Amino acid sequence: MDMVRSRILIFGASGYLGKYMVRTSMAMGHPTLVFVRPIDASAPPSKLEVIEEFESMGVKVFQGDLSDHGKLVSVIKQADVVISVLASPQHLDQIKIIDAIKEAGNIKRFVPSEYGHEVDRMTALPPFQALLDNKKKIRRATEAQGIPHTYVVANALAAYFVDYLLHPRDQERDAVTIFGDGTAYAVLNYEEDVASYTIMAATDPRVENRVIILRPPGNIVSQLDLIFSWEKKTGKSYKRLHIPEEEIIKLTETLPHPDNIPMSILHNIFVKGDQMGFELREDDLEASALYPDYKYTCVDSFLARCVVDPPKPKLATFA
Ligand SMILES: NC(=O)c1ccc[n+]([C@@H]2O[C@H](COP(=O)([O-])OP(=O)(O)OC[C@H]3O[C@@H](n4cnc5c(N)ncnc54)[C@H](OP(=O)(O)O)[C@@H]3O)[C@@H](O)[C@H]2O)c1
Repeated sequence: MDMVRSRILIFGASGYLGKYMVRTSMAMGHPTLVFVRPIDASAPPSKLEVIEEFESMGVKVFQGDLSDHGKLVSVIKQADVVISVLASPQHLDQIKIIDAIKEAGNIKRFVPSEYGHEVDRMTALPPFQALLDNKKKIRRATEAQGIPHTYVVANALAAYFVDYLLHPRDQERDAVTIFGDGTAYAVLNYEEDVASYTIMAATDPRVENRVIILRPPGNIVSQLDLIFSWEKKTGKSYKRLHIPEEEIIKLTETLPHPDNIPMSILHNIFVKGDQMGFELREDDLEASALYPDYKYTCVDSFLARCVVDPPKPKLATFA
């Protein structure tokens, strides 16, 4: 497919997934802009370093507040595509981006911050369902304004969940926790691939006003598959500590908010198996089928990499 160069504006750029998105957008040759919260003395040094890295790569950095509608509109007018990678507590703030896109009137594609489940085809326990409902609200608000869009169903981020389930940086560990019986299938996609598929889809006419589902065959695994592959790669054997489904459900009901969210996410992905809970229809767009020339990193190769170079994890898991 011929690559169309677009000016891509990214919100949430300095975050965990946002950094992958910015680097990939630049690597694919798109003029890239980012809109970040004002960097003041309270900003962590790591954020300053990221912004410096962006600037040295040629990324155009705008600092501002999402509530500054005028500024938002003026920055959006300088872009063709808007990609949001805002954190989940900020998902509803994307209404401000939608309003500004509507006023600017020039945006060819908006990708709201999702990168998880196909929210219109599943339900979860209440703490997780509340997050899914916010994503649905943003989908409906985007559609109501007639904004061309793409929704990215990234399923589970591989580095994020491998770190959580297998602890590849902890050489001393001799046990792993298994949620439920460990047999449900999930889809673990490496963050770099999620960014690549997102940037390709955001500039691809075939994915306008469509959902793209990342379900590459090499990334469909159960917890037991993951542990088995990890044991083969490390030459170690791990004790398996099972948390039964009833206990997980109880925790989602008794833990205070927001501590109840991680358990409800783990329940949905690894006990209920909702990422694989629906058959792909003939008209669904699956990323590895849509971009057959793109060589994604399958889970097995990703684990091989983790043995020698475990990826830096997100600091606040499930934030
Ligand atoms: N499927 C999965 O396995 C999985 C895993 C993790 C995340 N995700 C999804 O990926 C998306 C991005 O998540 P992430 O983990 O990359 O997010 P993150 O690193 O926690 O934050 C992303 C950005 O959100 C903005 N932000 C954070 N806290 C804020 C606050 N208090 N006020 C205003 N803005 C704030 C920041 O933007 P600035 O750059 O402007 O400071 C930050 O860089 C979310 O939709 C999340 O649900 C999916």
